[in-house]
Amino acid sequence: MQRLFIKTYGCQMNVYDSERMADILTPMGYTLTETPEDADLAILNTCHIREKAEQKMYSDLGRLRDRRDERRQDNNDMIIAVGGCVAQAEGGEIMRNAPYVDIVFGPQAYHRLPEMVARAKRSKDMKEGKTGKGVGVIDTDFPAESKFDTLPNTEVSRAASFLTIQEGCDKFCTYCVVPYTRGAEFSRPAKEVIEEARHLAKMGTKEITLLGQNVNAYHGIPPLGDKDWNLARLIREVADIDGIERIRYLTSHPSDMDQELIDAHRDVPQLMPYLHLPVQAGSNRVLEAMNRKHTRESYLEILERLRVARPDIALSSDFIVGFPGESDKDFEQTLDLVRQVRYAQAYSFMYSIRPGTPAGLMELQIPEEVKSERLQQLQAVLNEHQFDFNKACVGQTMRMLIERKGRHDGQLSGRSPYMQSVTLEGNERLIGQVVDVVIESGHANGIRARILTDEQVLV
Ligand code: SAH
Ligand code: SF4
Ligand code: F3S
Repeated sequence: MQRLFIKTYGCQMNVYDSERMADILTPMGYTLTETPEDADLAILNTCHIREKAEQKMYSDLGRLRDRRDERRQDNNDMIIAVGGCVAQAEGGEIMRNAPYVDIVFGPQAYHRLPEMVARAKRSKDMKEGKTGKGVGVIDTDFPAESKFDTLPNTEVSRAASFLTIQEGCDKFCTYCVVPYTRGAEFSRPAKEVIEEARHLAKMGTKEITLLGQNVNAYHGIPPLGDKDWNLARLIREVADIDGIERIRYLTSHPSDMDQELIDAHRDVPQLMPYLHLPVQAGSNRVLEAMNRKHTRESYLEILERLRVARPDIALSSDFIVGFPGESDKDFEQTLDLVRQVRYAQAYSFMYSIRPGTPAGLMELQIPEEVKSERLQQLQAVLNEHQFDFNKACVGQTMRMLIERKGRHDGQLSGRSPYMQSVTLEGNERLIGQVVDVVIESGHANGIRARILTDEQVLV
């Protein structure tokens, strides 16, 4: 038996990819380990979105090398592989910066990992003595064949699963590396997606999150019918699968939020009343410089229609502060938009210059202190709203999906329909089930609840 360690950085698509890497390596005799110390194969599935994510990867790599060096004295080598978006962006550069890395592979090439690992092993065996140098396997192609055609069905049972239905991005926001690391937008055939969703349901999944960098640009490919596919239709199909009680989708772009999708929020009870719809900034001047293709007004108008369709919908967003040229007045408009919308949760970042992106070359880059000050101001408002939202839930009953054991003994944790993280006391046998709870208290980052009935335990 060989041990496989995978560390995942970045977005949910990387989480999905890491799970699929494990699925494809399991038949080769690998089992997952939580600790890199005893790994025979260590994969870092990396993110390139901000400079910090990349720096973190290099410091983690250094630590992996040290562990491997300690172990090599016992003739117990480790293969070190770097995948994901940094691998795609930097390719062989990674091996120049960290010569002990054995394999570098891109997000569209991981279905070829078994070959890459076999090659790395052979090269290591042939090496006389252990030099500590990597064996130089690189695959950052965007191959003609789709990785999805080769990946085996997962054998792992999860209460909530991710399912990638779309990848890549053609939007080219001026700050963002995704169009370069993930490539052009493409959709998986609807038939294939539905089959994967059925398999997940059979494995015990209750909640599916349909994933894509621009998931609502999904257009599918026949044949499951001859009309064009879109995300709304796919959601309706997935809702028909026995066992699937909850559906979510991530991440949407405002300019692809069509009425059919908004209507699905009204009509499909399995579609959860929560939407992550990034706005990035509240000033039209900044949105234009970002090439976001939506305005403050068009964004707010979408939210209005969503609230008509699903009055209790909870909203979330991403924000970038300190985009080149952002004035105090522009930033005020972001704060103003936030106060208007009152998000249930949100992610906010300081603008980070990314190589090869147009915004990196723009004049009027904002000093770090200003970015940091704005981030603090924005987060204070966002946190206050999140706390308010959580407190407002107290006394309500909700259906909650129990996903895992909590931090303390006897505790369980999961997600509310509104994507809040929920903790409660209960029997471990409830993991993987949807139960009725009453909310007892609201906190800064989540809610606490009590199970209303434990009929599920009795079944
Ligand atoms: N496809 C999604 C998410 C892309 S990346 C979308 O269009 O919204 C996730 C988030 O990272 C983005 O929404 C943005 O807020 C942030 N981000 C992307 N590039 C960034 C950069 N250069 N600096 C800071 N934050 C960035
Ligand atoms: Fe990046 Fe913009 Fe594409 Fe989102 S829509 S992935 S932020 S380029
Ligand atoms: Fe990061 Fe790549 Fe996702 S850059 S955010 S891991 S698509």
